[in-house]
Amino acid sequence: MIDICRINQLYEMKKLRSQDWFGKTGKDGFIYRAWMKNQGIPDDEFRGKPVIGICNTWSEFTPCNAHFRELAESVKKGVLEAGGFPVEFPVMSLGETLIKPTAMLFRNLMSMDVEESIRANPMDGVVLLAGCDKTTPATVMGACSVDLPSIVVSGGPMLTGHYRGKPIATSDIWRYKDAVRAGEMQQEEFRSVEECMCRSQGHCAVMGTASTMACMVESLGLSLPSNAAIPAADSRRKVMAQLSGRQIVEMVKNDRKLSDVLTREAFENAIIVNAAIGGSTNFVVHLMAIAGRIGIDLSLDDFDKLGSQIPLLANLQPSGDHFMEDFYYAGGLPVIIKALGEKLHNVITVNGHNLVDNCTDAECFNADVISPTLQDAFQQASGIAVVYGNLAENGAIIKPSAATAELMTHKGKAVVFEDIEDYHARINLEDLEVDETCVLVLKNVGPKGYPGMPEVGNMGIPPKLLRAGVKDMIRISDGRMSGTAFGTVFLHVSPESAVGGNLALVQDGDMIEVDVPNRKLNLLVSEEELAERRKSWSAPDLGYHRGYVNLYIKTVEQSDQGADLDFLKGKSGSTVTRDSH
Ligand code: FES
Repeated sequence: MIDICRINQLYEMKKLRSQDWFGKTGKDGFIYRAWMKNQGIPDDEFRGKPVIGICNTWSEFTPCNAHFRELAESVKKGVLEAGGFPVEFPVMSLGETLIKPTAMLFRNLMSMDVEESIRANPMDGVVLLAGCDKTTPATVMGACSVDLPSIVVSGGPMLTGHYRGKPIATSDIWRYKDAVRAGEMQQEEFRSVEECMCRSQGHCAVMGTASTMACMVESLGLSLPSNAAIPAADSRRKVMAQLSGRQIVEMVKNDRKLSDVLTREAFENAIIVNAAIGGSTNFVVHLMAIAGRIGIDLSLDDFDKLGSQIPLLANLQPSGDHFMEDFYYAGGLPVIIKALGEKLHNVITVNGHNLVDNCTDAECFNADVISPTLQDAFQQASGIAVVYGNLAENGAIIKPSAATAELMTHKGKAVVFEDIEDYHARINLEDLEVDETCVLVLKNVGPKGYPGMPEVGNMGIPPKLLRAGVKDMIRISDGRMSGTAFGTVFLHVSPESAVGGNLALVQDGDMIEVDVPNRKLNLLVSEEELAERRKSWSAPDLGYHRGYVNLYIKTVEQSDQGADLDFLKGKSGSTVTRDSH
């Protein structure tokens, strides 16, 4: 129930931020209001209504977010119903599939756009419309650095694709790609899958990074319950947007800021939930970066300590069988939150109720998609494992639920690729000296080394091994992996090779030992030999000497810190100290 007396008291106590613009008299107030009125806005809109910014990551170059103008209209309806004044604004958008060299290079730039756009404009609260992978962390990171009342509305996943009677989605690209490389599928057939896979608006239809991010914001308490999984094409997605529009007005009235929701407990909840859904490895760098903005101390070890023993409760691709559409029909994230119950902190969310309390009525409608109890989990331990050793002194990560159990402990010879170009040039060669016991090593794909830490860590297996029936082998790099991918892949090696981590010193034929149960990743080469090799190592010069990329390379932190730019950590709040008018 809304406490009207309290709201009125708060309004009296606290002047709305937007009134520093629209509440002014004289020339300044005239200018602030008059130019807005060219959009046909009546004068009473400016007299003390909460101004709600709708931060829209719409772009036709971001197909996953291409329906967001329609979604923004639903948000506006909700804001108007609740007595607010909605104002939509654009920010940079990052389409995972098109942006070169990699969308991750621009996540931090986009977050700067979001931060400065929010702070510089007369708004009291913000609705963040996000969908494709980086658009969610970038908007949340930027909003955290301002810390106004904020709520996330996700765009929703695409409907499941169907090809020749078989359900398909993004994870199948990796399978079809290997089928082509193994000569089992022709190029023409491969092309004919395209329109069958992406048959509706929305983001990737598996528990890839976009869906993981949507689940992340719901488990952090930053969205209304059920936000994560409603398909983009489902009319209930618009309802979610409208209800969120109403809710943000209440949040402004109650002055519930991001920092009130994003406590240490909320981050712990997100880690536990991510483990239970078998979420993307990209979750790690994005959650770390968000924590850094809001001022919560989070370390790589938290992901292992809190998440690695959590049972897997969702049977979703890429780790399992089903799709996001099925996940929603089976009850969605509230069923998972209810099942996790006492493992979670019952802390406040954007709707003013606590996370677990929000989900007490959740029901599971398909136990093959979601396990409603911990006892019936699809795997007893899920989450992200963090390994250390002389090959990853500050850590590397692996997602055991997407890996091959027999490869969790292994010793094998390194087959080294100095960079992604070297990999592309040699991986298909028939005379490449490699067998299934080898360890593929890829250097210079970390935050600084690529730059931008692309999703290339799940290197394709050499065709001659594919033809021999090899489905998985160990791969190690300082890069990332698509949330839709799978395999025994060690990622985010830190320190990365471009800053002189031992990864830079690995040579063909070196023995590498992986031991996930004991959290070890070691290069079996003596310290003396490594010191000798280091003498002839020098940092690569990638030739970026100007612009944002130059700034990025100079200031980006390592992946175990979240790969944010060092000067963006923390927040500056919402106060604007200078006024040129
Ligand atoms: Fe946008 Fe997968 S490409 S979510």
